[in-house]
Amino acid sequence: MRVLSGIQPSGKLHIGNFFGAMRQHLQLQAENEGFYFIADYHALTTNPDPKHFAERTFDVAKDYLALGLDPEKTVFWRQSDVPEVTELAWILSCVTPMGLLQRCTSFKDKVEQGLSPVHGLFAYPVLQAADILMFDSNVVPVGQDQKQHIEVTRDIANKFNNIYGETFVVPEEYILKSVAVVPGIDGRKMSKSYDNTIEIFEPENAVKKKVMRIVTDSTPVEDPKNPDTCNVFALLKLVADENELAEWDQKYGAGGTGYGTVKKRVVELLHEYFRPFRQKRAELDENTDYVEEVLCKGAQKARAVASGTMERVRNATGLGVVRNA
Ligand code: ADP
Ligand code: TRP
Repeated sequence: MRVLSGIQPSGKLHIGNFFGAMRQHLQLQAENEGFYFIADYHALTTNPDPKHFAERTFDVAKDYLALGLDPEKTVFWRQSDVPEVTELAWILSCVTPMGLLQRCTSFKDKVEQGLSPVHGLFAYPVLQAADILMFDSNVVPVGQDQKQHIEVTRDIANKFNNIYGETFVVPEEYILKSVAVVPGIDGRKMSKSYDNTIEIFEPENAVKKKVMRIVTDSTPVEDPKNPDTCNVFALLKLVADENELAEWDQKYGAGGTGYGTVKKRVVELLHEYFRPFRQKRAELDENTDYVEEVLCKGAQKARAVASGTMERVRNATGLGVVRNA
């Protein structure tokens, strides 16, 4: 099966991104044909500072490779190295009903968060459809927040196929359900927009400081505590094994354990979990030529697929040269 997903380089990746999306992307590469890319055209909709934009994209590449993306198995590229997707996005936009995009909640949400209401932000789901349809993707693993965009993609594919004949594979969605929303240090959803993240690769002492600041309720040490509503326990669930988790669950119920004690254990476990990746990440920092080479080779492979799709699309739509019947 061909599995495709993209991640925007819109800030440093955090453990919510990892446990909520990236970990599953990496697991899926073992038994599928993985197509993963860094969605820098999409991130451009937020008008990022050009001085840091390229580097941020590159950082995401290093993060993914450090965390286990295998470029021998998985096609991995920077979206803007395959500019064919913008051509396809235009062609798809010519069959996309305005109403379909008007119903998308992400535009309104992002404008409410302060982003400028530019056309690219409105047309964002069409570019995403182009990403998915360009590569004949069967499955698109994304978080719940992206479900609507996959539905839009399916609608666009069906519409196009109806008008021009079978051209695109209609993808299945695949909503990643394995982890509940990872809370940030203030207890809201961990998100770079809330400035409450624990970054995957920030220095260990910074991780420690942040974990120690996680918001908890004011239950006294000696009293029983509720693991289900505790932000620290939510992180513990991500990194502790089953036996240890059961022990902590029991301690919460019994009372007598302070949140500070649990936080210290979460720090240790987070360090243990990410330490091997951290080392690989540091090596990649010293070996940027290798990272660039991976991205270039990935783009070459992606472009080979893209050119095949564009030929099909151009033929179907009647763009280009006159053909004999
Ligand atoms: P952010 O909210 O920091 O802007 P993105 O929207 O770029 O993060 O998220 C990229 C991917 O990571 C999405 O698939 C999303 O579902 C997942 N993700 C982000 N934050 C969390 C979280 N706190 N818990 C679980 N998954 C998350
Ligand atoms: N919109 C996705 C997000 O914000 C990123 C993305 C862009 C994507 N193109 C994609 C995800 C294609 C899956 C498939 O998380």
